[in-house]
Amino acid sequence: MSTHKKPLSVQLAIKTTAVKDSLVGIVKGLEGFLLQKEQDADRVDVLVLEIGSNPASDFETIRSLLQENVVGQLFLTSSKMTTEVLLPALRAGAKEFFSQPIDHDEVKVAFRQVLKDSQDHDRGEETPVHLGKIFSVLGAKGGVGATTFAVNLASSIQALDQNKLVALIDMNRLVGEIPLFLDLETNTNWEDIGKNFSRLDGAYLKSAMARHSSGIYVLPAPSGFDTETHLPAGFLFQIVKSMRQFFDYIIIDGGMYLDDNLFNILKESEVIYLIAILSLPCLINVRKLQESIRTTDDDADKKMQIIANRFEKKAQISLSEANKLIGAEISMTIPNDYSLAMSAINNGKVITDISGSSNLAKAYKKLAESIVKPPVATAGGVFKWFK
Ligand SMILES: Nc1ncnc2c1ncn2[C@@H]1O[C@H](COP(=O)(O)OP(=O)(O)OP(=O)(O)O)[C@@H](O)[C@H]1O
Ligand SMILES: [Mg+2]
Repeated sequence: MSTHKKPLSVQLAIKTTAVKDSLVGIVKGLEGFLLQKEQDADRVDVLVLEIGSNPASDFETIRSLLQENVVGQLFLTSSKMTTEVLLPALRAGAKEFFSQPIDHDEVKVAFRQVLKDSQDHDRGEETPVHLGKIFSVLGAKGGVGATTFAVNLASSIQALDQNKLVALIDMNRLVGEIPLFLDLETNTNWEDIGKNFSRLDGAYLKSAMARHSSGIYVLPAPSGFDTETHLPAGFLFQIVKSMRQFFDYIIIDGGMYLDDNLFNILKESEVIYLIAILSLPCLINVRKLQESIRTTDDDADKKMQIIANRFEKKAQISLSEANKLIGAEISMTIPNDYSLAMSAINNGKVITDISGSSNLAKAYKKLAESIVKPPVATAGGVFKWFK
């Protein structure tokens, strides 16, 4: 990494000795930062401040420090990680909040980000606007294969390009199953991230998400009932929005339950896959689902793609009949292969890893290719002469 012309100054306003010692150790070990004595500066690039026994007065101090522009970036720490401390801290303008005892990696990541921002700024670079693409997956009925689709779409996209960052988010509150599908042990779910929503930077998100051997980052759904009341409305949509700045592709397993978070996510989605099977009740649901999505998104019809999963050529309802029933074209069929789909789930693997040459794996690969390498628009024009 290139070095900064002048190191960034750091001050620690920390009362707890052990916390101060840890932070001193970390800052001294970091390139690009210089620890300052309190008395010798009238402006400091980074201040780490400990919230003490009188948080209200600490917040007052913080506000005036930031207002008078004597502090560049402010990090806070406290032995208490309660909403009463966290929320005012965020509102006061803190960039990050460090838990105690100090987690060295957490602090280093936050400092490195400050250094990077400052270097970008020096080079006159705006942080590049990079917005990852969201692909939402909705089941038109329970058990039609939405989770299977989301998991295998994400891993197939990743397989085509290991350099891209692919995220998979399970929105199925209480009944999320993605960790089981991928045999992943996870400690963090989106509710935990919601509690730390001051820190929705890429480094934190990546460290909080579980990484599967395929390369994808997974954010599971919470399985408990109790804590949602602490979380701000719409935070899940905020998490997804923040993720767009770091991830190239974000696949959402939306399940079947439509709420405001999901509607907002659908609005930002590149494609909304409606997973169906060719049964009458399911096709009727596809129609209903399309109608509800249309009511909140004017562009819905351009984005919705109906997938006929578990497709058999000899099915009772033909594709053209299904199209008529739905009043829209089915975009793609995925072959029925129950034993393969089931064996993938039961082994905690993606379909390609069980059988890469299967028609099922090929269907997912083809779909992923159409996303990662969309056909060049001019191919039919100039290129046709070279064929
Ligand atoms: N292409 C396929 N061929 C055969 N079976 C499939 C296929 N895709 C998925 N399945 C099977 O369908 C069942 C349901 O799959 P999955 O759990 O992915 O559905 P879901 O829509 O997410 O269900 P839920 O409503 O419970 O979330 C599983 O047993 C899975 O193996
Ligand atoms: Mg599911």
